[in-house]
Amino acid sequence: MIELKMLSNEIEYIEIKNENATAKIALQGAHVFEYKRSREDDLLWLSEVSDFERGKAIRGGVPICWPSFGANNPELPQHGFARTSLFELISSSEIDTKTTEVELRLRHTQESLKVWNYKFDLLLKVTITDKLTMELKTINTDEKEFKLTQAFHSYFKVSDISNAVVKGLDKKLCFDTLTNRNFVQEGDIIFNQEFDKVYQKVDNEIILNDKEKTIHIENEGSSSIVVWNPWIDKCKRMSAMKNEAYKEFVCIESANAFEDFKVIKPKESHTLKAIIY
Ligand code: BG6
Repeated sequence: MIELKMLSNEIEYIEIKNENATAKIALQGAHVFEYKRSREDDLLWLSEVSDFERGKAIRGGVPICWPSFGANNPELPQHGFARTSLFELISSSEIDTKTTEVELRLRHTQESLKVWNYKFDLLLKVTITDKLTMELKTINTDEKEFKLTQAFHSYFKVSDISNAVVKGLDKKLCFDTLTNRNFVQEGDIIFNQEFDKVYQKVDNEIILNDKEKTIHIENEGSSSIVVWNPWIDKCKRMSAMKNEAYKEFVCIESANAFEDFKVIKPKESHTLKAIIY
């Protein structure tokens, strides 16, 4: 089943149900805000107090940071403008009883050209089955090249942040945005304070363990991973988050960030892909 539905405040979303999984994708931001495999709990965290409002990013799920990650381009809003832009649903198909595919598109507008003066086509293909696959293709339709940083800013639901262990980043080079220092990760990641690090040269899968639950994150077209949890003080300051919400999620972001930026020449494209299960 693929249905186009509307929340009370005119936020349109696509609801998908098949034998393997269910999912919800908002047209604003092409934002997957729910993904659940049959007989399992939600894989993604969604804030109970998230604003589903035009022009405001949804807190949770998988925001798309594009065409700039973080404050990389000071002329753009934090994490770019895609997450608050309205995408168009261009195709949907039930491949079989267990697999559903939808494709959404964002193109430059007079408004986007004012903040980022490049013409583009941005396509997100989402495949819902026993895995969640997202493929974000950036096509440069301009006559000049542009620099791109981006991320699938995935919020993963955990039983408690103290149970979360992130594996796959041992010995990876990393930039700590809280201290502005580079270092090399030693061992697995556990959480007992604010955490905001960008790992570079990552070409292997990342695993999130939460008690008996294991989540796999495979990435293509990207070699940087951002791991983030705001912890107590930042959580209190953040929009659309309850004070204790930091206990419920960890963000593991499949990114092209920092040195892993991409330069896209006219008529060329780049695809960032994440497979999550
Ligand atoms: C992460 C950054 O990617 O996103 C954090 O590393 C930031 O520094 C977080 O706080 C959330 O950003 P935003 O704009 O969604 O509040």
